[in-house]
This record gives sequence, structure tokens and C-alpha cells, in this order.
Amino acid sequence: MSPILAINGLSKQFGGVTALAGVDLAIEEGEILGVVGPNGSGKTTLFNVVTGVHRPSGGTVLFRGQDITGLKPHAISRAGIGYTFQQAMAFAGLGVLENVRIAGEHVGTDSTANPWPTPQALLDFVGLSAVANEKAGVLPFGSLRLLGLALALATRPSLLLLDEPAAGLNDRETTALVGLVRQLPGHGISVCVIDHDMKLMQMLCRRLAVLDFGSKISDGPTEAVLADPKVLEVYLGGDL
Ligand SMILES: Nc1ncnc2c1ncn2[C@@H]1O[C@H](COP(=O)(O)OP(=O)(O)OP(=O)(O)O)[C@@H](O)[C@H]1O
Ligand SMILES: [Mg+2]
Repeated sequence: MSPILAINGLSKQFGGVTALAGVDLAIEEGEILGVVGPNGSGKTTLFNVVTGVHRPSGGTVLFRGQDITGLKPHAISRAGIGYTFQQAMAFAGLGVLENVRIAGEHVGTDSTANPWPTPQALLDFVGLSAVANEKAGVLPFGSLRLLGLALALATRPSLLLLDEPAAGLNDRETTALVGLVRQLPGHGISVCVIDHDMKLMQMLCRRLAVLDFGSKISDGPTEAVLADPKVLEVYLGGDL
């Protein structure tokens, strides 16, 4: 089966900084792929280039075989790639349910062919129905992160990119998040997740890719990657 996303030779320069240096990466249909690497290794930049936030300096991104390189964020979102941000965000002054409803308004015509959960059902899924009518701005941090997941799901993605979804969550919230993310492939949503928490990544991902200084240094089954000498060297004295 061809991958849902095929990244080929992707590079990104910010002035003199090489954030991505020719990355090849495939995300298979139905998998939960993990991307790890030290601070500043290019993980968020990879997502930003795939989702059209930044234009790549070189390389291509194929989504379901179609070239989406350099398209605008709304076009990429419409094509079916959803994204949650490293910083949790929502419209603080609007209600929680209202936020999800608005996020679902700008989806592509293609994706309306399939029935999709209502905003209320998405809130049920992430466990926020009880606060549906609260303003998003009053939510505690953990709930705001879960709302971020509901907002991304409302755009009807077939590929969801999660940038440090568990950052700032306590153990109970992290366990809940793992339970939710694991269900996504069963709903036809492939996942790529960035996180520094290797325990979390081991729970979620059968496969990991590792970035270091903008280059992919390892890619394979999670246990093999975590035992890869090149990976151990990068994390020497670190949190692996
Ligand atoms: N908008 C930008 N302008 C200039 N430089 C940037 C920009 N975004 C990222 N960079 C630089 O690109 C490199 C990669 O950053 P990136 O945010 O992708 O790393 P990361 O792996 O996500 O790190 P972290 O684990 O801390 O989130 C860093 O050197 C960073 O300073
Ligand atoms: Mg980052």
C-alpha cells in the first residue's frame, strides 16, 4: 500500500539556520508514527512545512499521491491534513462547543461525502461535554489541550499531526489522551505525533523516526530505534 504521506528531500532554511536538511519520511495509512529528536532538531518545522505554514526551501510532499508542496494552509487542511499546535489554542471568548462548530465549518466538499461526528459528538469523544457552554478561555490547561484535539478532528482529517499533545498534562490526562489517540486509526485517521516523552511514544507508536539537526538519523520499529547507537548518542545524558 502506498503511504498516506510521502515526504521527499524536504529542506527548510531560516536565514542561515538549516531547520530541515533533506528529510525523507513516509507515513503509512492507519499507523501512528512518532517523530522525536532534541530541542531545535526540526520536528515542528517538519509539521509547519507539511501543513503549509512555511514554504519548503526544497523537496516535495505528496498526500495520497498528490503533490501538496507549498500549498496554503487552508488548502492542505481541506485536502485532509489536520494539525494540533505545540501551544494549545482556541478562541478564548467563545464557548467550547462553539469553537468546535466553527472549526468544522471550513472543511472541504470531498470530505462531506462521509458522515462525520457532530461537534457535540466530538466533545463527547474528548470528554468535554460537561463544559460545552463554558468559554474556552476559562478551561484548565489539560482541557484546553483536549479541546485542541476536538478542533483538529472537526476539520475531518484523514491524517492528523499532533505536536507535543501531552505537554503540560498530568498522568491521568496523558493516559486519557493516549486512549483517544489510539482509537483514531480505527476511525480512518492516520497519525503522526511529536513528543519528548519516550514512555508516551512507546505506548502510542510502533514506529519512530528521529531527527537531529534537521536530518533523519533513524527510522524503524520503536524498540529498534530506541536501541540504535546513533539515537543513543544524540540522547547521551538526556532523557531517553
Ligand atoms: N519561524 C522561524 N524563524 C527562524 N528560525 C526558526 C523558525 N522556526 C524554527 N526555527 C529554527 O529552526 C530550528 C528547528 O526548530 P523547530 O521548532 O522545528 O525544532 P523542534 O524540534 O520542534 O524543537 P522543540 O523540541 O524545542 O519543539 C531551530 O534552530 C529554530 O530556532
Ligand atoms: Mg517543536
